[in-house]
Amino acid sequence: MKIRKAVIPAAGIGSRLLPLTKATPKEMLPVGDKPVIEHTVRELVASGITDITIVVSSGKSLIQDHFRPNPALVAQLRADGKSAYADAVEEVGELSREGHITYLDQHGPYGNGTPVLNAARHLGDEPMLVLWPDDVFVAEVPRAQQLITAYESTGCPVLALLPMAPGESQRYGVPVVREDLDEGLLRISGLMEKPKPEDAPSAFAAIGGYVVTPGIIDELRTQTENWYTHQTGEVYLTDAINNYAAEHAVYGQVIQGRWYDTGNPADYLVAQFASALAHPEYGPLLRQLVD
Ligand code: G1P
Repeated sequence: MKIRKAVIPAAGIGSRLLPLTKATPKEMLPVGDKPVIEHTVRELVASGITDITIVVSSGKSLIQDHFRPNPALVAQLRADGKSAYADAVEEVGELSREGHITYLDQHGPYGNGTPVLNAARHLGDEPMLVLWPDDVFVAEVPRAQQLITAYESTGCPVLALLPMAPGESQRYGVPVVREDLDEGLLRISGLMEKPKPEDAPSAFAAIGGYVVTPGIIDELRTQTENWYTHQTGEVYLTDAINNYAAEHAVYGQVIQGRWYDTGNPADYLVAQFASALAHPEYGPLLRQLVD
């Protein structure tokens, strides 16, 4: 089945970036000339995704305002002869149309599986991409497209992976690799969340980016039902993946490209700096300043 749908869970409070995120959602902080979440939406649209659901909470209306088309502003800018600005505003609104962006309020138990389940109720039971809202990926082939290609060749859930530096394992989910296939595709038997370096089952990190299938959604549904019955545990994507992988094939795809986890203060600064250096007009000036 072709992947046409994607979920961006964007209900988190961005605590690692406080007080910057006290009034501004972390998804709306700029990296280069775009807010972080626009990088993700562009990645999805460039990968052929036509239904994007952004799962939000209160305080996130700036995201909606950003993507909402604003013909009155465009007309005003054109009347003032500011056509480059008008084009830029129009282009962002166009993303909303191309990606059919819809918004859902997150509700349910704590955990990063809840927004995925919320979105699946809306999008229907079919394979879909899940991308975190604060990842910026710079790649020749969009990360989302690389995941879609891996899904098309396996027909199974796929996780985005990157090689990990020794000692970083306590920041990530680390896959248990079963078989190393061609082109960075790995068959995995599960994920160990944030293991100590001596316990890490491989030298790869799961980064943001998943193709989840109806089987994984079923696992999330079971976890959620258990939560409502027993009020225990949390609803985590990693648990759903591990439960599913106990009986079914799951793959990891080592992604080509540079990943910035902008929810992390240090990586956010690096992402800003790297995008400024890469700017065609301002990059050379900045290089002169730092050389
Ligand atoms: C989540 C996942 C983890 C993954 C990480 C990547 O963890 O559970 O497997 O490595 O995202 O950003 P979190 O950072 O939300 O704790």
